[in-house]
Amino acid sequence: MKFGRNTNFDKDFLLKNMMGPNCVRIAEELTQKIQLSSEMRILDLGCGTGLTSIFLAKEFGAQVFAADLWIKPTENYERFKKFGFENQIIPIHAEAHELPFAHHYFDAIISIDAYYYFGAEPDYLDKHIVPLIKKHGLIAVSVPGLQKDFSQGVPDALKPYWQENMNFYSRNWWKDLWELSPNIVIEQCFSHQCHKEAWKDWLECDNPYAKTDVKMMEAENGNYFDTIGLIAAVK
Ligand SMILES: C[S@@+](CC[C@H](N)C(=O)[O-])C[C@H]1O[C@@H](n2cnc3c(N)ncnc32)[C@H](O)[C@@H]1O
Repeated sequence: MKFGRNTNFDKDFLLKNMMGPNCVRIAEELTQKIQLSSEMRILDLGCGTGLTSIFLAKEFGAQVFAADLWIKPTENYERFKKFGFENQIIPIHAEAHELPFAHHYFDAIISIDAYYYFGAEPDYLDKHIVPLIKKHGLIAVSVPGLQKDFSQGVPDALKPYWQENMNFYSRNWWKDLWELSPNIVIEQCFSHQCHKEAWKDWLECDNPYAKTDVKMMEAENGNYFDTIGLIAAVK
C-alpha cells in the first residue's frame, strides 16, 4: 500500500503490524498539514511497532526517535533495520511521563493513536511535552475520539465495548484542553478525512483486538466516532 510520495508498505506486513486504525494513513494526512524536513529531529511518541516512524524517516528523511511503552525496542530495531533505517530511527523504551530526553531537543513531536492514553491529563502537555521541544517546534497528534461528547452518558449500543479509561473525547474537548496551555499556539484542530478508511484497514487485520473492534464498529455504525487531529506550535 502506497502512502505519501515514497512509502510503499507490503499489505501483509502492514496488516501484521497494525495496532489500531491504520496509523500510516493517519500520519500521511496529519503530516500533509505541517512542514517537516530532513534537518529535523522528531519524536514519534507511542510509536507502537514503529510503522509511523518508518513513514516519517522515508517521507521526510528526518531523524526519528521511536518511543513506546508496550513494544520492545529490540523488536522495533529489527523492523527498522529491514527498512535500512538502523542509523536514522532510534528505538527507545519510554513511559510518556518519564521521557528520557534533553529539554528543547526535538523540532517536532508526532503521536498517532497513543496520546489519549496519557495526554488527557490537564497538565500533561505543559509538564511533559512542551519542555522537550525547541522554540516554534511542532506538536502534531491524532487520536480516536467522538463526533460529540456523550452528555447523556455512553449510548446503549456502545456500552458492551466501553472501557472507563478509553478517553475518547470530541474535537472541542481536546481544543479546550490545549487552550489551557500558555506555552503553545493551536494551529489546527480537525476531523481526519481518512477516519473511515483507517478503521476499514484495521478491521481487516487478524489481530484479536481488531476482531473485537469489528463488532464495536458495527454497533457504532458511523454515528459516534471520529479521528481527531491537533497541531500546535510551541511559543
Ligand atoms: C493503540 S497503540 C498504537 C501504536 C501506534 N502509534 C499505531 O498507531 O500503530 C497505543 C500505543 O501507545 C503506547 N502507550 C500507551 N500508554 C503509554 C505510555 N504511558 N507511555 C508511552 N507509550 C504509551 C503503547 O505502548 C502502544 O504502542
